Amino acid sequence: MAEAVAAALRRAGNPGRSGHVLSTRSARDLFLARERLAELFGGGDSSRFVFTGNATAALNQAIKGVLRPGDHVVTTSVEHNSVMRPLRRMVDAGVGITVVPAGEDGVTDPLSVVAAFRKETRMVSLVHASNVSGALQPVGRVAAEARKRGILTLVDAAQTAGAVPIDLRGLPVDLLAASGHKGLLGPQGTGFLYVREGVRIVPLIEGGTGSRSESDRQPVFFPDALESGTQNSVGIAGLAVSLGWLLRKGVDTIRRKEEEITARLLEGMARIPGVRLFGPQDPSLSVAVVSFLVEGMDPAETGRRLEKGYGILVRAGLHCSPNGHRTLGTFPNGTVRVSPGPFTTRAEIETFLSALRRIRRLSG
Ligand SMILES: Cc1ncc(COP(=O)(O)O)c(C=O)c1O
Repeated sequence: MAEAVAAALRRAGNPGRSGHVLSTRSARDLFLARERLAELFGGGDSSRFVFTGNATAALNQAIKGVLRPGDHVVTTSVEHNSVMRPLRRMVDAGVGITVVPAGEDGVTDPLSVVAAFRKETRMVSLVHASNVSGALQPVGRVAAEARKRGILTLVDAAQTAGAVPIDLRGLPVDLLAASGHKGLLGPQGTGFLYVREGVRIVPLIEGGTGSRSESDRQPVFFPDALESGTQNSVGIAGLAVSLGWLLRKGVDTIRRKEEEITARLLEGMARIPGVRLFGPQDPSLSVAVVSFLVEGMDPAETGRRLEKGYGILVRAGLHCSPNGHRTLGTFPNGTVRVSPGPFTTRAEIETFLSALRRIRRLSG
């Protein structure tokens, strides 16, 4: 992936802006990445996958491009701030909101979400898996009920894209946002928004697309409708390569491996006295994200000791999701989050467990 980025950087042409060789090569990189996204997510027409700089940009586009004053939106108490902050902005602009509380394990009851639907509800916005507890949310059941009522479903797949199989052919989700740099294993500065055919969405950013240049109005066809200005063709060239790897490997294989190592992680951590775990303790109900606290120790201090003493990097604090932590009862200090990935080995999990045992022993 890094080599593809370096190669693209050396020959970066502006995709769609010219007919010369460098421009058409960049355009091919974008096309390849888009086609691979469509293949990975079963999305059919690849033009419905719009590149963005990250998941946050995709979520802002979806929320602010669809909701209008007088609309109502339903969401949950375990959303990331990249959903909650744009939603709060829309509330200031006259949109109604219901935030459905998730259980203490971080899982939302689909019936409570459906019970919050009203006749003005235009959108339900759900995180696919919480970045705080790892808990998978009942996206399929909620989306099916929303579809029956003509309500759009927006899914924040930042934690699941590339880690949990997602097939848009069988999932009635209308808008799906993700980062390129997490489970999709691409470079930072990449992300995408999938917009199902027929969804009415207004672009947040308008400008040059390299298409229909005779007109001073934004094109309405995809992806140009939502992709203005020079794209991150260098990053997207890297994303195309990591998507190719994921397609060959299979997301179901990655999911199985991550479930296995998370099971070992949870089992090992549960045996360390004074370590408290949050979120589902069953890896089939979560992604490979485990939030914990060492009794009597500030999460930042645990993170510091893991890095300084053992070279293990974790994230401590509120993880950009204050509501997620309120739900788990860990606000305002937050937790420590350990998140293995597809390249994490069993041996690394054992190293982490013995580091945690030692940290606990020395502090207890
Ligand atoms: C659940 C969730 N949503 C959204 C985001 C935002 O992603 P990005 O940093 O790509 O904008 C994150 C990032 O941590 C996340 O975990």
